[in-house]
Amino acid sequence: MAKDLRSFIDGLRASRSADLVEIEREIPRDLFMTLIQEKLAKEGRYPAVLFRNVAGHGWPVVTGLFSSYSLLARMLEVDPTDKKRVLSEYMRREAGPIAPIAFTGTTAPVHEIVMTGDDIDLDRLPVQKHCAGDSGRYITIGCMICRDPVSGVANVGTYRHELKGRTRMGCMMNPVQHAATIRNRHHGAGKAMEVAVFIGHHPAYHVGAASRGPLEHDELAVTGGLLGEAVELVACKTVDLKVPAHAEVVIEGRIAPDSFENDGPFAEYAGYYGAPMKVPVIEVTAITHRRQPIWHDLFPSFREHTQVGVLGREAQLFRRVREIVPTLDAIHLPPSGANFWHCYVSLRKRVQGEGKLAGLAVLGSNYDVKHVIVVDDDIDIYDDQEVLWAVATRVQADADCSIVTNSFGAHLDPTAYGETRSERGPMTTKVIVDTTRPLNREFAQRVRPAAQLWDAVNLRDYLGPGGAGAADGRP
Ligand SMILES: Cc1cc2nc3c(=O)[nH]c(=O)nc-3n(C[C@H](O)[C@H](O)[C@H](O)COP(=O)(O)O)c2cc1C
Repeated sequence: MAKDLRSFIDGLRASRSADLVEIEREIPRDLFMTLIQEKLAKEGRYPAVLFRNVAGHGWPVVTGLFSSYSLLARMLEVDPTDKKRVLSEYMRREAGPIAPIAFTGTTAPVHEIVMTGDDIDLDRLPVQKHCAGDSGRYITIGCMICRDPVSGVANVGTYRHELKGRTRMGCMMNPVQHAATIRNRHHGAGKAMEVAVFIGHHPAYHVGAASRGPLEHDELAVTGGLLGEAVELVACKTVDLKVPAHAEVVIEGRIAPDSFENDGPFAEYAGYYGAPMKVPVIEVTAITHRRQPIWHDLFPSFREHTQVGVLGREAQLFRRVREIVPTLDAIHLPPSGANFWHCYVSLRKRVQGEGKLAGLAVLGSNYDVKHVIVVDDDIDIYDDQEVLWAVATRVQADADCSIVTNSFGAHLDPTAYGETRSERGPMTTKVIVDTTRPLNREFAQRVRPAAQLWDAVNLRDYLGPGGAGAADGRP
């Protein structure tokens, strides 16, 4: 059976872990699902959440599928407690793309229900308004397929789509994206661009779509590698494109040249509203979906947004830094860094200066990173508290911090500046914080529980199976 959104949710449910929360109580369509995610986060919980009863809509809505490293581990079917293994398994699978194949059954699941013509109504989909200051309701985790007219290769990318009525929705494409280049090629020739947006599939589809490569790069082959099985494709009903046969929903349509409308303000990933802009509009020609569909949503101003692409970026950084520092232990872009603006690096230091060298390698390999914190390999870089403890106890700023000004950074950083620093612009100041202990002199000995004892004692033997000793009674 093909891996899809349903099989992934079933797997989460079967794990009986904290990674899935199911909510039966009726919930308003707008603002409430994101509120529940915020409330859970305040308790330190970042599960996938399945809302079974959204007011006015028969469809369940799942969100939060990328909210934690544990969920990324489950996507790759590795032990969620083995954080380092998540990245190594990702790198192994990313290196082995599997080309898509044709769906061979009679009716593809995604074509069980087909709506065209007057039956099309985007409002039948449980698309929500996520934040009070958003300009409207947005599809936030659709994968848009279009075809490059020059190479003939299909491109997949995730773009936000604001609903504009029964049959129209926006498509915000940053000009650097491949889909924007492909749109320019169509529109330069005076032609409309056909698109198909699929929503609701195994999380590997979104991680594959976020993978970087040349324009001809086949994101669905990367997805196949991540899944360990070929993606099955089926022809669309009203446009000349192919879509994954086991998606929950597909929206087909065309973007005509010179068709633009307002988009935004929109609550962005760094936790601030992005300004309004003009974006192209998709004229919808068909909506197809599975029977008893599940809608997939993503809270864009929340950690799950950037976590979709975190493994791809960590893999790239790991490869680059390891070329310079072979004793690199691990690399992590924590959610606290908003949009990859923090990078934690751990290593087994061999010579003085190697911590800073690793930091320079990170800064030279990725423009998003603003603050690199380099630690010895006794620090767990998946735990912000431990990293901050290393900063507190192993750093004197004048000796251990290196600052690089006026370097290209992320434009959505509200502190980013321009040439004269008096105006907004794409530049940021980078810092390397080297917390690695000196090799050329004595350093204080860290207090640790004895390793043998640590391994021998199981907390549950003392707290009971339900963790009854825990303050809030949760396991
Ligand atoms: C949840 C999510 C939402 C995104 N939304 C947008 C968007 O609205 N506009 C955009 O230009 N890029 C967006 N991106 C980034 C692109 O999807 C990403 O850069 C992708 O690799 C682009 O693919 P392409 O260059 O092959 O078209 C988003 C990424 C994620 C993970």
